Amino acid sequence: MGAEYMKWTDDLSVNVKELDEQHRKLIDMINILYNSIKEATDRHAMVLLLVGLANYAASHFADEEKYMSLFNYSGQELHKNEHGAFKDKVLEFKDKFESGKASISEEVMVFLQDWLARHITGTDKKYTQVFNANGLS
Ligand SMILES: [Fe+2]
Ligand SMILES: [Fe+2]
Repeated sequence: MGAEYMKWTDDLSVNVKELDEQHRKLIDMINILYNSIKEATDRHAMVLLLVGLANYAASHFADEEKYMSLFNYSGQELHKNEHGAFKDKVLEFKDKFESGKASISEEVMVFLQDWLARHITGTDKKYTQVFNANGLS
């Protein structure tokens, strides 16, 4: 277990167990990627970590979007746009990294942790009331 770059704190809770667990897993994956930079892991292994993170994020987003749709959540379009922008940005990082134009650097890590923290506290938390009211907690 290496350094903890991003930490789970209670203020990140959206009060839905399944989604909190997925957020924790995303934080774990960010920390693993961070440690792979510190340990100078080879490029191919790092691409796989980044792709793994992108895929897990996509499945987490799909779960949130499924519930938003099911509960007729009014903020779903804006929320989906944020998910889409994140997916595009991570793919852009992956392409640059694979083609050797950039490395997975502190800049990538700052983006990942900053985006996730802000998205959870600023956007995800807005669905808590509606999800809880529909029996999801
Ligand atoms: Fe979200
Ligand atoms: Fe989320």
